Amino acid sequence: MITINELRAKYIEFFKSKGHVEISGKSLIPENDPTVLFTTAGMHPLVPYLLGEPHPAGKRLTDYQKCIRTGDIDAVGDPSHLTFFEMLGNWSLGDYFKKEAISWSFEFLTSPKYLGIPVEKLSVTVFAGSDGILRDDDSAAIWKSLGIAGDHVYFLPKEDNWWGPAGETGPCGPDTEMFVDTGMEPCGPECRPGCHCGKYFEIWNDVFMQYNKTAAGTYEPLSAPCVDTGMGIERTVAMLQGKASVYDTEAFTPILSLLNEISGKTYGAADNSPETDKSFRIIADHVRTATFILGDPKAVLPSNIGAGYVLRRIIRRAVRHGKKLGIEGTFLSRPAEVVIRNYQAAYPELAENRTRILDELRHEEEKFLETLQKGEKEFEKMLPNLLKNPQKIMSGRLAFKLYDTYGFPIELTEELAAEDGLSVNRAEFDEAYRKHQDLSRAGSEQVFKGGLADHSEISTRYHTATHLLHKALRIVLGDHVAQKGSNITVERVRFDFSHPAPMTKEEIAKVEQIVNEQIARDLPVTMEMMSLENAKNAGAIALFGEKYEPVVKVYTIGDFSKEVCGGPHVAHTGELGKFRIQKEQSSSAGVRRIYAVLE
Ligand code: ALA
Repeated sequence: MITINELRAKYIEFFKSKGHVEISGKSLIPENDPTVLFTTAGMHPLVPYLLGEPHPAGKRLTDYQKCIRTGDIDAVGDPSHLTFFEMLGNWSLGDYFKKEAISWSFEFLTSPKYLGIPVEKLSVTVFAGSDGILRDDDSAAIWKSLGIAGDHVYFLPKEDNWWGPAGETGPCGPDTEMFVDTGMEPCGPECRPGCHCGKYFEIWNDVFMQYNKTAAGTYEPLSAPCVDTGMGIERTVAMLQGKASVYDTEAFTPILSLLNEISGKTYGAADNSPETDKSFRIIADHVRTATFILGDPKAVLPSNIGAGYVLRRIIRRAVRHGKKLGIEGTFLSRPAEVVIRNYQAAYPELAENRTRILDELRHEEEKFLETLQKGEKEFEKMLPNLLKNPQKIMSGRLAFKLYDTYGFPIELTEELAAEDGLSVNRAEFDEAYRKHQDLSRAGSEQVFKGGLADHSEISTRYHTATHLLHKALRIVLGDHVAQKGSNITVERVRFDFSHPAPMTKEEIAKVEQIVNEQIARDLPVTMEMMSLENAKNAGAIALFGEKYEPVVKVYTIGDFSKEVCGGPHVAHTGELGKFRIQKEQSSSAGVRRIYAVLE
């Protein structure tokens, strides 16, 4: 029976034998993609190379990559959803295309030397064509020439057979997906690969990257077509081992055995309620995910924003399900140790960051146990009144009070409420929450010397947006507008400028419109070095009173703006996304302040 470690090794060995170089997987925290909180696919760290940047290891690459997808976090607990998973992949960066990619997928899946899956159990889907992009007859013909029967090749629409990254922009294209028939009866006449009834198990996806989707929503052809493939390890191993669920593989069985020991209950016991087994699975999944996040070289810690909030939510949800199983006190560091032990050979960072993983888990658990106690007590106090509500709705205001006063998370309020047949007015909660966030952010400005948090992509985008904003203000308000300061965090830019009066609504809207127009034009951003004098002669804006080196960098954004600046900047304004001014207020006498975001 093939194990996870064997599958990883076989895959990499197979693609090495086809001229690929093994590269190492990257951090779970994306380095150059502010559109997502976590690395969601093996292709993610390779985006710049899929877009044409040469890769130092060549044009044929293979690796295994840790991934997190939290879009379906609420589905975790069913037999197949996971928040963390490993993805195997092979890439052609402008080298081979459909014929080789599909032939190698077929060989790896069916060859007795590799996975040895009987050909008749395989079904594949290919792109049916839409939006002026042709039906993928080539891929269908290649599959058939290899021995896949015609009635095992399905043409499906864009919803099924088109792949783009989790963010809005980036490389994308039609794909062909591979499924194994589990032998179950079809759920109905419409049952086909992609159906969720469980008959067809998707294990691999070959994407034919041909386009770059820009922020403006257009598809630009890539300089060279690429191949991006992804095979989910947990699912594939479950299928190869004949297991009905990923939780029955060695990725989880040792965690579940330990949870049996800790809780005194037994996962999968015949008399368990479905809820009990679900709690086991949620803890097992979440502790594995939290261990990988905390064990990452670029780990985030539990917090109330962004990736840190996801981590906090995952840990807290695991704790709460631990309580449902009757577990008292802190316990998560024990299954975390199992995860570290099982995965440290493939991911040495887990052992290196062992102390941080265990300490942070324990710390977060302790804090949350306190919160839970207080919050649940308060909820129970509210309950008699809540039950009097004929609509069985708990107001968002009350839910927010639990959050604000006791740190009790809304998801848990919803769960508690649901247990008593109540629903929570989420829209009202969200509104109260948003107001609170705005206030607390304004009160706890992160200040970075030199104005820039770091040179990561997200800051870079804000930096370029700042130049657009500066120029747009000068167009709308007049040439007296001069930058007085700016500060960029990963969430927004704050921009101070000289102007004697508050801006009107119309002026604000006009500035936004001008900036968004320049983004939609996808203007190139170029840099030249020149003397300060030449820069000024060329019409570049330089900040008054700023000390400059004799030779300066001048950044030019299309025909729109020219500024003396150290950079860095994006290559094209299309990368910025949508620009919105959140607030305009006074900063000091004669100086106005704008907070703006890229969405
Ligand atoms: N990037 C593709 C996927 O995640 C292979 O399915």
